[in-house]
Amino acid sequence: MAGQGPLNVVIVGCGNISGPYARSMATHPTRIKLLGAFDLNPQAAQKLVTEHGGRVYETLDAVMADPQVEAIVNLTIHQAHYDIIKKALEAGKHIHTEKPLTLNVAQAHELVALAKNRNLRLSSAPITFLGEGQQTAWKAIREGKLGTVRVVYAEMNWGRLESWHPNPAPFYEVGALADVGVYPLTVVTTIFGPAKRVTAAGGVLWPQRTTKSGSTFEIKETPDWACMCVEFASGPMLRMTASFYVGPTHQHGVEFHGDVASLFLGSAHDFNKGVQIRPFGAAEWTDVPYVREPFPGVEWSRGVTELHDAIRSDRPQRATGEQAAHVVDIIFSAYESIKTGKAVAVKSSFTQPKPMDWAV
Ligand SMILES: NC(=O)c1ccc[n+]([C@@H]2O[C@H](COP(=O)([O-])OP(=O)(O)OC[C@H]3O[C@@H](n4cnc5c(N)ncnc54)[C@H](O)[C@@H]3O)[C@@H](O)[C@H]2O)c1
Repeated sequence: MAGQGPLNVVIVGCGNISGPYARSMATHPTRIKLLGAFDLNPQAAQKLVTEHGGRVYETLDAVMADPQVEAIVNLTIHQAHYDIIKKALEAGKHIHTEKPLTLNVAQAHELVALAKNRNLRLSSAPITFLGEGQQTAWKAIREGKLGTVRVVYAEMNWGRLESWHPNPAPFYEVGALADVGVYPLTVVTTIFGPAKRVTAAGGVLWPQRTTKSGSTFEIKETPDWACMCVEFASGPMLRMTASFYVGPTHQHGVEFHGDVASLFLGSAHDFNKGVQIRPFGAAEWTDVPYVREPFPGVEWSRGVTELHDAIRSDRPQRATGEQAAHVVDIIFSAYESIKTGKAVAVKSSFTQPKPMDWAV
Protein backbone atom coordinates (compact mmCIF):
# COMPACT_ATOMS: atom_id res chain seq x y z
CA MET A 1 0.00 0.00 0.00
CA ALA A 2 1.42 3.36 -0.99
CA GLY A 3 -0.59 5.22 1.68
CA GLN A 4 -1.15 8.94 1.93
CA GLY A 5 0.11 11.97 3.82
CA PRO A 6 3.41 12.38 5.61
CA LEU A 7 5.57 9.37 6.39
CA ASN A 8 5.22 8.54 10.11
CA VAL A 9 8.73 8.01 11.44
CA VAL A 10 10.57 7.42 14.70
CA ILE A 11 14.22 8.36 15.20
CA VAL A 12 16.26 5.60 16.82
CA GLY A 13 19.61 6.92 18.09
CA CYS A 14 19.50 10.48 19.46
CA GLY A 15 23.14 11.57 19.42
CA ASN A 16 25.13 14.19 17.56
CA ILE A 17 23.42 14.00 14.16
CA SER A 18 19.84 13.56 15.43
CA GLY A 19 19.28 17.31 15.99
CA PRO A 20 20.29 18.27 12.42
CA TYR A 21 18.07 15.43 11.09
CA ALA A 22 15.06 16.44 13.20
CA ARG A 23 15.43 20.13 12.32
CA SER A 24 15.71 19.27 8.64
CA MET A 25 12.76 16.84 8.71
CA ALA A 26 10.61 19.53 10.36
CA THR A 27 11.02 21.69 7.24
CA HIS A 28 9.02 19.07 5.28
CA PRO A 29 5.83 18.66 7.36
CA THR A 30 3.77 17.45 4.43
CA ARG A 31 6.21 14.60 3.80
CA ILE A 32 7.58 13.58 7.21
CA LYS A 33 5.95 13.36 10.64
CA LEU A 34 8.16 12.64 13.63
CA LEU A 35 6.17 10.43 16.02
CA GLY A 36 8.96 10.19 18.59
CA ALA A 37 12.37 8.86 19.47
CA PHE A 38 14.20 6.04 21.19
CA ASP A 39 17.76 5.85 22.49
CA LEU A 40 19.49 3.48 24.89
CA ASN A 41 20.10 6.68 26.81
CA PRO A 42 16.55 7.89 27.70
CA GLN A 43 17.78 11.43 28.42
CA ALA A 44 19.03 11.75 24.85
CA ALA A 45 15.61 10.68 23.53
CA GLN A 46 13.87 13.06 25.96
CA LYS A 47 16.03 15.97 24.81
CA LEU A 48 15.23 15.26 21.17
CA VAL A 49 11.45 15.09 21.65
CA THR A 50 11.44 18.13 23.94
CA GLU A 51 13.04 20.11 21.13
CA HIS A 52 11.35 18.51 18.12
CA GLY A 53 8.08 16.92 19.28
CA GLY A 54 6.67 13.40 19.45
CA ARG A 55 7.07 11.06 22.38
CA VAL A 56 9.80 9.06 24.01
CA TYR A 57 9.53 5.33 23.38
CA GLU A 58 10.69 3.38 26.43
CA THR A 59 12.06 0.43 24.48
CA LEU A 60 12.95 -0.52 20.92
CA ASP A 61 10.21 -3.16 21.09
CA ALA A 62 7.68 -0.40 21.85
CA VAL A 63 8.75 1.42 18.67
CA MET A 64 8.42 -1.72 16.62
CA ALA A 65 5.04 -2.60 18.16
CA ASP A 66 3.50 0.80 17.38
CA PRO A 67 1.25 0.30 14.31
CA GLN A 68 1.40 4.05 13.57
CA VAL A 69 5.12 3.84 12.83
CA GLU A 70 5.75 3.36 9.11
CA ALA A 71 9.50 3.90 9.00
CA ILE A 72 12.51 4.02 11.30
CA VAL A 73 15.18 6.67 10.87
CA ASN A 74 18.24 4.88 12.23
CA LEU A 75 20.81 7.31 13.62
CA THR A 76 22.49 4.91 16.02
CA ILE A 77 26.21 4.43 16.09
CA HIS A 78 27.70 2.28 13.31
CA GLN A 79 28.13 -0.80 15.52
CA ALA A 80 24.35 -0.95 16.18
CA HIS A 81 23.14 -0.56 12.58
CA TYR A 82 22.76 -4.24 11.71
CA ASP A 83 20.66 -5.11 14.77
CA ILE A 84 18.38 -2.08 14.47
CA ILE A 85 17.81 -2.52 10.73
CA LYS A 86 17.10 -6.24 11.10
CA LYS A 87 14.67 -5.65 13.93
CA ALA A 88 12.86 -2.92 11.99
CA LEU A 89 12.48 -5.05 8.87
CA GLU A 90 11.34 -8.05 10.92
CA ALA A 91 8.72 -5.80 12.51
CA GLY A 92 7.44 -4.76 9.07
CA LYS A 93 8.85 -1.22 9.14
CA HIS A 94 10.59 0.59 6.30
CA ILE A 95 13.95 2.03 7.31
CA HIS A 96 16.30 4.82 6.38
CA THR A 97 19.67 4.26 8.03
CA GLU A 98 22.75 6.35 8.53
CA LYS A 99 25.99 5.04 7.04
CA PRO A 100 27.64 2.67 6.70
CA LEU A 101 24.85 0.14 6.19
CA THR A 102 26.72 -2.51 8.22
CA LEU A 103 30.26 -3.35 9.29
CA ASN A 104 30.22 -6.70 7.57
CA VAL A 105 29.60 -7.58 3.91
CA ALA A 106 27.54 -10.72 4.56
CA GLN A 107 25.26 -8.84 6.95
CA ALA A 108 24.78 -6.04 4.40
CA HIS A 109 23.59 -8.52 1.78
CA GLU A 110 21.45 -10.34 4.36
CA LEU A 111 19.59 -7.11 5.14
CA VAL A 112 19.08 -6.28 1.45
CA ALA A 113 17.58 -9.75 0.94
CA LEU A 114 15.42 -9.43 4.06
CA ALA A 115 13.98 -6.09 2.88
CA LYS A 116 13.26 -7.57 -0.54
CA ASN A 117 11.58 -10.67 0.90
CA ARG A 118 9.40 -8.56 3.15
CA ASN A 119 8.61 -6.03 0.39
CA LEU A 120 9.97 -3.22 2.58
CA ARG A 121 12.19 -0.24 1.78
CA LEU A 122 15.79 -0.25 2.96
CA SER A 123 17.18 3.23 2.30
CA SER A 124 20.72 4.11 3.29
CA ALA A 125 22.96 7.14 3.68
CA PRO A 126 25.06 8.68 2.29
CA ILE A 127 22.36 10.55 0.42
CA THR A 128 24.67 13.35 -0.69
CA PHE A 129 24.52 12.11 -4.28
CA LEU A 130 21.03 13.67 -4.19
CA GLY A 131 22.58 17.10 -3.57
CA GLU A 132 22.48 19.92 -6.11
CA GLY A 133 26.27 20.05 -6.64
CA GLN A 134 26.50 16.27 -7.06
CA GLN A 135 23.49 16.15 -9.42
CA THR A 136 24.96 19.05 -11.44
CA ALA A 137 28.28 17.21 -11.86
CA TRP A 138 26.50 13.98 -12.83
CA LYS A 139 24.37 15.78 -15.43
CA ALA A 140 27.46 17.31 -17.09
CA ILE A 141 29.07 13.85 -17.21
CA ARG A 142 25.89 12.22 -18.58
CA GLU A 143 25.66 14.89 -21.26
CA GLY A 144 29.18 14.04 -22.44
CA LYS A 145 30.75 17.39 -21.49
CA LEU A 146 33.94 15.55 -20.41
CA GLY A 147 33.98 12.94 -23.16
CA THR A 148 34.80 9.47 -21.86
CA VAL A 149 35.81 9.74 -18.18
CA ARG A 150 38.81 7.55 -17.45
CA VAL A 151 40.18 8.88 -14.14
CA VAL A 152 38.54 10.07 -10.90
CA TYR A 153 40.39 11.49 -7.89
CA ALA A 154 38.57 11.85 -4.57
CA GLU A 155 39.80 13.32 -1.30
CA MET A 156 38.11 12.79 2.05
CA ASN A 157 40.51 14.22 4.63
CA TRP A 158 38.17 14.65 7.57
CA GLY A 159 40.63 15.71 10.27
CA ARG A 160 40.60 14.53 13.87
CA LEU A 161 37.09 13.72 15.04
CA GLU A 162 38.06 13.90 18.69
CA SER A 163 38.47 17.67 18.28
CA TRP A 164 34.67 18.07 17.99
CA HIS A 165 32.76 14.78 18.48
CA PRO A 166 31.88 13.97 22.12
CA ASN A 167 32.21 10.19 21.58
CA PRO A 168 34.79 9.64 18.83
CA ALA A 169 36.16 6.16 19.73
CA PRO A 170 33.48 4.12 17.84
CA PHE A 171 34.23 6.12 14.69
CA TYR A 172 37.89 5.13 14.90
CA GLU A 173 36.88 1.49 15.36
CA VAL A 174 35.29 1.57 11.90
CA GLY A 175 37.91 3.87 10.38
CA ALA A 176 37.99 6.72 7.92
CA LEU A 177 37.14 4.56 4.90
CA ALA A 178 33.90 3.23 6.38
CA ASP A 179 32.89 6.48 8.04
CA VAL A 180 33.71 9.15 5.44
CA GLY A 181 35.08 7.24 2.43
CA VAL A 182 31.46 6.20 1.86
CA TYR A 183 30.59 9.73 0.63
CA PRO A 184 32.75 9.83 -2.53
CA LEU A 185 32.26 6.09 -3.06
CA THR A 186 28.50 6.56 -3.18
CA VAL A 187 28.76 9.57 -5.51
CA VAL A 188 31.16 7.80 -7.87
CA THR A 189 29.25 4.48 -7.91
CA THR A 190 26.06 6.45 -8.60
CA ILE A 191 27.69 7.90 -11.72
CA PHE A 192 29.73 4.92 -12.96
CA GLY A 193 28.00 1.86 -11.49
CA PRO A 194 29.62 -1.12 -9.78
CA ALA A 195 33.30 -1.47 -8.93
CA LYS A 196 35.11 -4.63 -9.96
CA ARG A 197 38.48 -4.52 -8.17
CA VAL A 198 40.16 -2.69 -5.29
CA THR A 199 43.79 -2.20 -4.32
CA ALA A 200 44.58 -0.26 -1.15
CA ALA A 201 47.26 0.78 1.29
CA GLY A 202 46.82 2.33 4.71
CA GLY A 203 47.47 2.06 8.40
CA VAL A 204 47.08 3.53 11.84
CA LEU A 205 49.25 6.64 11.63
CA TRP A 206 48.43 8.21 14.99
CA PRO A 207 47.08 5.63 17.46
CA GLN A 208 46.95 7.68 20.69
CA ARG A 209 44.00 10.05 20.68
CA THR A 210 42.69 12.42 23.36
CA THR A 211 39.01 13.38 23.59
CA LYS A 212 37.71 16.89 24.28
CA SER A 213 37.10 15.86 27.91
CA GLY A 214 40.74 14.79 28.27
CA SER A 215 40.36 11.00 28.29
CA THR A 216 42.53 8.96 25.95
CA PHE A 217 41.88 6.01 23.70
CA GLU A 218 43.96 3.97 21.33
CA ILE A 219 43.18 3.06 17.73
CA LYS A 220 43.96 -0.65 17.60
CA GLU A 221 43.97 -1.71 13.96
CA THR A 222 41.52 0.07 11.65
CA PRO A 223 43.40 2.55 9.44
CA ASP A 224 43.00 6.24 10.26
CA TRP A 225 44.44 6.87 6.79
CA ALA A 226 43.92 4.85 3.63
CA CYS A 227 44.38 5.30 -0.08
CA MET A 228 42.64 3.05 -2.55
CA CYS A 229 42.42 2.46 -6.29
CA VAL A 230 39.05 1.25 -7.48
CA GLU A 231 38.55 -0.15 -10.98
CA PHE A 232 35.00 0.23 -12.27
CA ALA A 233 33.36 -2.35 -14.51
CA SER A 234 32.30 0.53 -16.81
CA GLY A 235 35.93 1.65 -17.25
CA PRO A 236 37.08 4.52 -15.02
CA MET A 237 39.77 4.22 -12.34
CA LEU A 238 39.22 5.98 -8.99
CA ARG A 239 42.00 6.96 -6.62
CA MET A 240 40.54 7.93 -3.25
CA THR A 241 42.08 9.01 0.05
CA ALA A 242 40.19 8.89 3.35
CA SER A 243 41.75 10.19 6.54
CA PHE A 244 41.11 10.92 10.21
CA TYR A 245 44.65 12.26 10.49
CA VAL A 246 44.96 14.91 7.78
CA GLY A 247 42.52 17.81 8.04
CA PRO A 248 41.09 19.76 5.12
CA THR A 249 43.74 20.10 2.42
CA HIS A 250 44.18 22.10 -0.76
CA GLN A 251 43.07 18.93 -2.52
CA HIS A 252 39.43 18.23 -1.73
CA GLY A 253 36.22 17.15 -3.40
CA VAL A 254 36.12 14.91 -6.45
CA GLU A 255 37.87 15.44 -9.81
CA PHE A 256 36.58 13.71 -12.93
CA HIS A 257 39.01 13.59 -15.86
CA GLY A 258 37.72 12.81 -19.36
CA ASP A 259 39.08 12.84 -22.90
CA VAL A 260 37.88 16.38 -23.60
CA ALA A 261 37.54 18.06 -20.21
CA SER A 262 38.00 17.78 -16.44
CA LEU A 263 35.31 18.57 -13.89
CA PHE A 264 35.76 19.48 -10.23
CA LEU A 265 32.99 18.80 -7.72
CA GLY A 266 33.87 20.88 -4.66
CA SER A 267 32.57 18.31 -2.15
CA ALA A 268 31.20 14.77 -2.05
CA HIS A 269 29.41 15.84 1.15
CA ASP A 270 28.06 19.41 1.03
CA PHE A 271 25.53 20.25 -1.69
CA ASN A 272 26.87 23.74 -2.45
CA LYS A 273 30.65 23.64 -2.77
CA GLY A 274 30.67 24.44 -6.48
CA VAL A 275 31.20 22.59 -9.76
CA GLN A 276 33.80 23.72 -12.28
CA ILE A 277 34.90 22.53 -15.69
CA ARG A 278 38.11 22.96 -17.67
CA PRO A 279 38.38 21.72 -21.25
CA PHE A 280 41.64 19.87 -21.86
CA GLY A 281 44.36 22.42 -22.65
CA ALA A 282 42.36 25.42 -21.35
CA ALA A 283 44.09 27.61 -18.79
CA GLU A 284 41.03 28.39 -16.67
CA TRP A 285 38.34 26.51 -14.78
CA THR A 286 34.84 27.92 -15.32
CA ASP A 287 31.78 27.50 -13.11
CA VAL A 288 29.09 25.03 -14.17
CA PRO A 289 25.69 26.53 -13.23
CA TYR A 290 23.82 24.45 -10.64
CA VAL A 291 20.79 22.54 -11.94
CA ARG A 292 18.85 24.42 -9.26
CA GLU A 293 19.67 26.63 -6.27
CA PRO A 294 21.71 24.40 -3.92
CA PHE A 295 20.83 23.69 -0.32
CA PRO A 296 23.57 25.22 1.85
CA GLY A 297 25.58 22.32 3.35
CA VAL A 298 23.82 18.95 3.66
CA GLU A 299 20.05 18.63 3.79
CA TRP A 300 20.03 15.69 6.20
CA SER A 301 16.36 14.87 5.61
CA ARG A 302 16.74 14.44 1.86
CA GLY A 303 16.94 10.63 2.07
CA VAL A 304 13.77 10.57 4.20
CA THR A 305 11.77 12.87 1.89
CA GLU A 306 12.97 10.76 -1.02
CA LEU A 307 11.77 7.65 0.85
CA HIS A 308 8.39 9.29 1.43
CA ASP A 309 8.03 10.27 -2.23
CA ALA A 310 9.03 6.79 -3.41
CA ILE A 311 6.64 4.95 -1.06
CA ARG A 312 3.69 7.23 -1.74
CA SER A 313 4.11 7.05 -5.51
CA ASP A 314 5.02 3.37 -5.54
CA ARG A 315 8.39 3.75 -7.24
CA PRO A 316 11.88 2.63 -6.10
CA GLN A 317 13.70 5.06 -3.81
CA ARG A 318 17.05 6.31 -5.10
CA ALA A 319 19.12 5.64 -1.96
CA THR A 320 19.12 1.85 -1.84
CA GLY A 321 20.42 -0.80 0.52
CA GLU A 322 21.73 -2.61 -2.55
CA GLN A 323 24.09 0.26 -3.47
CA ALA A 324 25.04 0.78 0.19
CA ALA A 325 25.89 -2.94 0.45
CA HIS A 326 28.08 -2.63 -2.65
CA VAL A 327 29.88 0.32 -1.03
CA VAL A 328 30.40 -1.78 2.13
CA ASP A 329 31.80 -4.49 -0.14
CA ILE A 330 34.28 -1.99 -1.70
CA ILE A 331 35.40 -0.81 1.74
CA PHE A 332 35.96 -4.30 3.14
CA SER A 333 37.73 -5.30 -0.06
CA ALA A 334 40.05 -2.34 0.58
CA TYR A 335 40.65 -3.45 4.18
CA GLU A 336 41.47 -6.94 2.89
CA SER A 337 43.83 -5.46 0.30
CA ILE A 338 45.57 -3.40 3.00
CA LYS A 339 46.14 -6.60 5.02
CA THR A 340 47.23 -8.87 2.16
CA GLY A 341 48.93 -6.37 -0.16
CA LYS A 342 46.90 -7.84 -3.03
CA ALA A 343 44.15 -6.59 -5.33
CA VAL A 344 40.70 -7.83 -4.27
CA ALA A 345 37.79 -8.54 -6.63
CA VAL A 346 34.49 -6.93 -5.64
CA LYS A 347 31.77 -9.51 -6.17
CA SER A 348 28.53 -7.64 -5.59
CA SER A 349 26.67 -5.36 -7.94
CA PHE A 350 23.73 -2.95 -7.83
CA THR A 351 21.39 -1.00 -10.08
CA GLN A 352 22.31 2.67 -10.47
CA PRO A 353 19.72 5.15 -9.20
CA LYS A 354 17.95 7.57 -11.51
CA PRO A 355 18.93 11.26 -11.42
CA MET A 356 16.60 13.57 -9.51
CA ASP A 357 13.65 14.77 -11.62
CA TRP A 358 14.91 18.35 -11.36
CA ALA A 359 18.33 17.31 -12.72
CA VAL A 360 17.31 15.31 -15.78
N1 LIG B 1 27.93 13.29 13.72
C1 LIG B 1 27.88 13.56 12.44
O1 LIG B 1 28.27 14.68 12.01
C2 LIG B 1 27.35 12.57 11.46
C3 LIG B 1 27.19 13.00 10.14
C4 LIG B 1 26.67 12.10 9.21
C5 LIG B 1 26.34 10.84 9.59
N2 LIG B 1 26.53 10.41 10.86
C6 LIG B 1 26.17 9.02 11.19
O2 LIG B 1 25.12 9.05 12.16
C7 LIG B 1 25.24 7.94 13.04
C8 LIG B 1 25.30 8.44 14.46
O3 LIG B 1 26.37 9.35 14.57
P1 LIG B 1 26.40 10.39 15.78
O4 LIG B 1 27.54 11.29 15.52
O5 LIG B 1 25.05 10.96 16.02
O6 LIG B 1 26.80 9.39 16.98
P2 LIG B 1 26.61 9.61 18.55
O7 LIG B 1 27.58 8.73 19.22
O8 LIG B 1 26.62 11.07 18.86
O9 LIG B 1 25.12 9.10 18.79
C9 LIG B 1 24.74 7.76 18.64
C10 LIG B 1 23.53 7.51 19.52
O10 LIG B 1 23.07 6.19 19.29
C11 LIG B 1 22.66 5.65 20.54
N3 LIG B 1 22.66 4.20 20.44
C12 LIG B 1 23.73 3.37 20.30
N4 LIG B 1 23.30 2.09 20.21
C13 LIG B 1 21.96 2.12 20.25
C14 LIG B 1 20.95 1.13 20.20
N5 LIG B 1 21.25 -0.16 20.08
N6 LIG B 1 19.65 1.51 20.30
C15 LIG B 1 19.34 2.83 20.43
N7 LIG B 1 20.25 3.82 20.50
C16 LIG B 1 21.54 3.47 20.42
C17 LIG B 1 23.67 6.19 21.53
O11 LIG B 1 23.17 6.12 22.86
C18 LIG B 1 23.84 7.62 21.02
O12 LIG B 1 22.93 8.52 21.63
C19 LIG B 1 26.48 7.17 12.60
O13 LIG B 1 26.06 6.12 11.76
C20 LIG B 1 27.28 8.18 11.77
O14 LIG B 1 28.01 7.56 10.74
C21 LIG B 1 27.01 11.26 11.82
